[in-house]
Amino acid sequence: MTPASSPSDKPSYLGLLNAIALAESRAHAYLTAWMAVTPSPDVRAVLATVAAREGEHGMAFAKRINELGYSVLDRPDPSQKKKMAMAKSDRTDLEKMEAIGLNELDTGDRPDIFDRFFTDHSIDIQTGALLGRYICEERDSGRLLRSCYEQLKAAERPKARSRGTKARRPEPVAV
Ligand SMILES: [Fe+2]
Repeated sequence: MTPASSPSDKPSYLGLLNAIALAESRAHAYLTAWMAVTPSPDVRAVLATVAAREGEHGMAFAKRINELGYSVLDRPDPSQKKKMAMAKSDRTDLEKMEAIGLNELDTGDRPDIFDRFFTDHSIDIQTGALLGRYICEERDSGRLLRSCYEQLKAAERPKARSRGTKARRPEPVAV
């Protein structure tokens, strides 16, 4: 009996693996750059956790692509330059989160981009195991980043309020 597909058949999910390898490595680059400049130890701790995962995902998917007999194909991402510049800038952590969209990764119970990954039923066992772990880590990172964002937002509110109060404070009245 011959297998349904031979090893020489190009996997239909190679493009997906390639896109993940590139996106994760790029996220590792801007998160690491951001880590170097954030004034907050709490934000740095969250970025360190997520950056380590992203870097490992980038390498793990490149390794899997290699094991399948292929190599990562570089496809330029025009947004990466902007993300790097934003990460390194002196904008606040809150502004960076919003600009890069890290506060919107966690969709809670609503569908996310990962829900469609396993509609490809030809995914081999080893790649499937890697994808499963990757998806759960990405969702956990999304929750971590959302929580970090909400704490930054909550810390920003009293500051904004006091700035607003100051601006609206009436001139002292002479008595
Ligand atoms: Fe990621």
